[in-house]
Amino acid sequence: MKLTSRARFSTICLHAGQEPDPSTGAIITPIYQTSTYVQEALGVHKGFEYARTQNPTRMALEGNVAAIEGGRAGFAFASGMAAIGAIATLLRAGDHVVVSDNTYGGTFRLFDKVLTRYQLSFTYVDTSNLAAVEQAFTRTTRMLFVETPTNPVMRITDLRAAAGLAHAHNIRLVVDNTFASPYVQRPIEFGADLVTHSTTKYLNGHSDSVGGVVIAMHDEDIEWLRFVQNAEGAILSPFDSWLVLRGTKTLPLRMQRHNENGLALAEYLAAHPKVKHVYYPGLPTHPHYDLAKRQMRGFGGMLAFELGSLEAARRLLNTVKLHALAESLGGVETLISHPASMTHASVPVDRRNEIGITDGLVRISAGIEDIEDLKDDLGRALDAI
Ligand SMILES: Cc1ncc(COP(=O)(O)O)c(C=O)c1O
Repeated sequence: MKLTSRARFSTICLHAGQEPDPSTGAIITPIYQTSTYVQEALGVHKGFEYARTQNPTRMALEGNVAAIEGGRAGFAFASGMAAIGAIATLLRAGDHVVVSDNTYGGTFRLFDKVLTRYQLSFTYVDTSNLAAVEQAFTRTTRMLFVETPTNPVMRITDLRAAAGLAHAHNIRLVVDNTFASPYVQRPIEFGADLVTHSTTKYLNGHSDSVGGVVIAMHDEDIEWLRFVQNAEGAILSPFDSWLVLRGTKTLPLRMQRHNENGLALAEYLAAHPKVKHVYYPGLPTHPHYDLAKRQMRGFGGMLAFELGSLEAARRLLNTVKLHALAESLGGVETLISHPASMTHASVPVDRRNEIGITDGLVRISAGIEDIEDLKDDLGRALDAI
């Protein structure tokens, strides 16, 4: 084991979960593209029996992300949604969950359209308001499911306070940390019980893989998630595991640039006369700026801004060239999107309006390009409105 217990974040990202390959010394964990493992004799094997249950590439990634988030065990799934689906299996019929009202549209769709069929119930509240969270707790509440910052209007939940509140009611705090990445915030340090990511985003970071992880802290959750990962079988493939392992090696470097470019674009847009409002927690005008400064290391690469109308948003989105018009986020290339018709189209229109996801709202996932090129591209598109 080359890592000491004092290893710092960048060193953990590069090395945790990985040892030179025992058969060759290869520094990079190989892609173990195999479905089964030959046993030496009946009942004698090397701890690997069948690849849904154990795969060395996936297990290296699971060790890596667990260490990166400061958790006790990690589990890798075929997508971020499969990871959230696995977390939901910790619940039983009759249980109730309090969820950030501004959660990812796909999470809302899973909860609202699928899991309500299994006698689970969900209450959506603005989790940046912990009094509202406490009011939403009922006798049957078992989980508080938080996204911070929220997608796309960037509200921040106080994770330490949320953990305190959840634990006072004997409830698990689950944090979807996709938007921030563990470089920017590590929810387990604030008391979260479970952390999940769509690795499709910052952890992989190169827009070439779909996956998800869950990081857990408690023995009973770890035991159950290990069982469910195998029982349901929604595992991450060896190749995708390898891609994400490669991605996490550069997570700190990429996040430093995502943070810088996110802040620079937010400041640029906030000063532009055609922009009505910018949602970015690193602007002092953001209502949760002080909390974001305490809780986050940098403010991330995600921002959204209001142009006032669908027509203005359409013109901007159809004029930009370097900003790629696409769903998703967290890759090295800058992406731009229209939440109301793209990522949040499955959210009913009245709920969208309540949250602030208007027809004039545009979201950016700031990549790692030269910031001047990004500003030039946006400037040209804003001139066209
Ligand atoms: C915050 C958040 N959580 C979960 C997901 C789901 O991840 P995936 O698309 O990998 O299933 C997404 C996808 O956009 C997301 O943005």
